[in-house]
Amino acid sequence: MKRRNFLAAAAIGGLLAAAGPLQAQDLPPLEQKDSYKVGFAQTESNNPWRIAQTKSFQDTAASCNWDLVLTDAGGSAAKQVADVDSMIAQGIDVLFLPPREESPLIPAVMRAKAAGIPTFLVDRSVDPNVAQPGRDYVSFLGSDFIDQGRRAAEWLMENFEGEEGVIIELEGTTGSSPANDRKKGFDDAVAADDRFTIVASRSGDFARDEGRRVMETLLQAHPNVNVVYAHNDEMAIGAIQALEAAGRQPGSDVTIVSVDGTRDALQAIIDGKMGVTVESSPFFGPLACETMKRYAAGDEIEPWIKVEDRIFTSENAADHLDEAY
Ligand code: AHR
Repeated sequence: MKRRNFLAAAAIGGLLAAAGPLQAQDLPPLEQKDSYKVGFAQTESNNPWRIAQTKSFQDTAASCNWDLVLTDAGGSAAKQVADVDSMIAQGIDVLFLPPREESPLIPAVMRAKAAGIPTFLVDRSVDPNVAQPGRDYVSFLGSDFIDQGRRAAEWLMENFEGEEGVIIELEGTTGSSPANDRKKGFDDAVAADDRFTIVASRSGDFARDEGRRVMETLLQAHPNVNVVYAHNDEMAIGAIQALEAAGRQPGSDVTIVSVDGTRDALQAIIDGKMGVTVESSPFFGPLACETMKRYAAGDEIEPWIKVEDRIFTSENAADHLDEAY
């Protein structure tokens, strides 16, 4: 359905019924034109995933005729809010936002809408109890993080050869949607298999160094660990470094499962140090361009445009090394 028709239907529906949860008629429109001033407010640039995501937007700026306003919040949700405010003041036409954490970025989303700027959340989302697609922002473009955690657990349950799995979980950034959802997907799945116990679960902030430091500490408290589930590859690599420094053999006496699909993780799988990484693609630029154009053309936009993810193991990691980041 064209968005104009959808808006009309929604308006009539709004007269007939009490205000429903989704009120697409409230979303700011986007004019059809040859070029756009586009804001992309990055969370931080301390890992290959974030750098690949930024590059995808930069590459797309040329092909989609964007005047790209790019910021880097340096790992601070407060800075990311200020970055969005600055973009609003600069008069961007459209905003693409990966909210670093689920709650602190909601005021920025609301202010962009109040300023008449259509906003698309990319890769990470906000608390759905407070802000919703189709009402407060146009759509969420991203992976199913719960499913990623569940698939990592399923691989573990199918491939673990020991009798008892003692798991350390390295969580992502506290309060972020991937950390919340990857934890839920994995924890719920392994809870159904009584071979496994999660003995510790702590944030490594999606960062390699922090993952290594947290792993060093947890290893002292739980020397019998034989499984590590990291919410991203950077922390998995940090955990491998900590394990090796402690004389352990990742891949042999400790099974490592993770999420992302970075080059270092694929190499670790090829080297036999890591078991699996569930893909989480950072290449959002082309999808952002296509979705924005559809919105400007008046198409109805799905509340969640789901990115389909692959899975990388010893069977296929070498085939994907060249394309990895
Ligand atoms: O939001 C996606 C996560 O953020 C990626 O898994 C991680 O590497 C990044 O920092």
